[in-house]
Parts: sequence; structure tokens; C-alpha cells
Amino acid sequence: MVIILDGKKCSEKRLELLKEEIKNSGLNPRLATVIVGSDPASKMYVRMKHRACEQVGIGSVGIELPEDSATDKVLKAVMQLNQDPDINGILVQLPLPKEVDAECVIERISPEKDVDGYHPENLGLLFSGRPRFTSCTPTGIMTLLKEYKIPLAGARAVVVGRSIDVGRPMAALLLNADATVTICHSKTKALAEELKRADILISAIGKAHFIQPEMVKPGAVVIDVGINQLDGKLVGDVDYAKVSEIASAITPVPGGVGPMTIATLMENTFRAAKVKACNRA
Ligand code: GUN
Repeated sequence: MVIILDGKKCSEKRLELLKEEIKNSGLNPRLATVIVGSDPASKMYVRMKHRACEQVGIGSVGIELPEDSATDKVLKAVMQLNQDPDINGILVQLPLPKEVDAECVIERISPEKDVDGYHPENLGLLFSGRPRFTSCTPTGIMTLLKEYKIPLAGARAVVVGRSIDVGRPMAALLLNADATVTICHSKTKALAEELKRADILISAIGKAHFIQPEMVKPGAVVIDVGINQLDGKLVGDVDYAKVSEIASAITPVPGGVGPMTIATLMENTFRAAKVKACNRA
């Protein structure tokens, strides 16, 4: 029988624990989100993040900038938040409109407030094996794998996708946990063969039902980061019904990776507040 890696249940448990920890800490962590434009999906994600803040006792402020904002205007908002001593974490919701230089914006976020872990300094620390803030989706996946006691040392892990928010940090986290890691991407030759070798398969491609059972090793652990629309339904990159027949464990969509991302953001924000309090003491 396949094990369903229940991200909803795991995240709820962690949020409850975090709420207690925050209450007992005497700290007032605060997260700022910045959203540019009015993309409905982005707005929904940001709303969910604010709701989670409320649930655990993290204060939050939301900066909303118009779609036609120039890079300078976004940078100005980020710099104000960098200087605000009451803000511990800054999250600039991606994707940004094409006209905004996203790399420039990410690089301007203070690395100590970069709870998304996208700043090159934080990515560099992660890749050098000394992580500080690490990207929420891959970190949430690591938490879920730990919760279900999935062995990682020596396991062959294949990550599909090489973005700075999922693929690259996912590979680094797995490597830091002693897995043997392969990163596949759009130019990978014989992709299906690479995938078939995976003990742990992590898909962040963004194509509905791309991963079919023929590409999966029987008994593999399958993690689905994709959120795609198919015939009006929300589905992952993995053909869940078919692949769950041969996998040993699998994340559902929705209810798998998504809730873990949000729980990790809350944990990162509280950690930023704790580090700041320690440095001041
Ligand atoms: N867009 C989709 N997911 C995320 C996320 O976790 N952080 C940010 N900043 N943007 C996103």
C-alpha cells in the first residue's frame, strides 16, 4: 500500500507547535509581503500567507504595488522594509511583472530578512553546507520526508527543475542530507531513464500529469511540487492515480507540498525574529 505523505496534517501539527513557541518566546515576529500587480493566483497565495501569520501569532503587513510599477519603486519598498526594525521577514511574491528586474529586487532584500531564501548570499550558504534561510518549498519537503522517516543518506534523488526557488535549493538540501543527487531540466537527454533511477523523485516542472508510471522506479518516493489546471481541476506534475499504484510513498495535490511551504515560511519568519533578538542581547 502506498503511503500518502500528508502535508496538510504535518503542516497543521507544525503550525500548532510554532504558535505555542511564539507565545512562550515573548517575541513579536512580523512578516512583510510585497505584491506587484493583481494576478489572482499570486493574490490568493499572499492571502494564505497572511492567514497563516494570524493563525500562529505572527504580525503581518502587505504592500501592494500597481502592475506598472518600475523596478525602482519596488526597490524603494524593499529598502524601507529592510530599515524597519519591526519587520523580521520580507517576502516579495513571485513572479514579478516582466518589466521589473526580479534579480535586482531579490538581491536588495536584506539577507537577514530573506525568509524566502532566494538571496544569492543565502543560496551560497546553503550550497556551502552552512544553510541560514532556505527556500520554503524545498525545506518543507525535507520536513515532510523527515516526518515520514524516509531515508535519504545514500538514496538516489532526482530533482526535475532547476529554478532558484525549488530545483536548485532542493538539490542542495538533499545533498546536505547525503543523498546522491541528479538535477534534470528541459535540456536533459533521456529524461525518462534518469527518472527511472530515482529512489526519491521530486518534480517541479509545471506540466499536468507529465510523470507517468513508466518513468518511475517501483517503490520510489514521489514528491509533486506542480500545481496545474487540468479540465478545471487542480492537479500536480504526477499522474497521481497511476503512479500511486507503484510508488512506496507520494504527495497528493492539493494537500501535499503546498501547506508545507506556508508552514516553513512561518518557521523562517520566527527564526529571523529569534536571531535578531539574540544578536541584540
Ligand atoms: N510564488 C510562488 N511561491 C512563492 C514563494 O514561496 N515565495 C515567493 N516569494 N513567491 C512565490
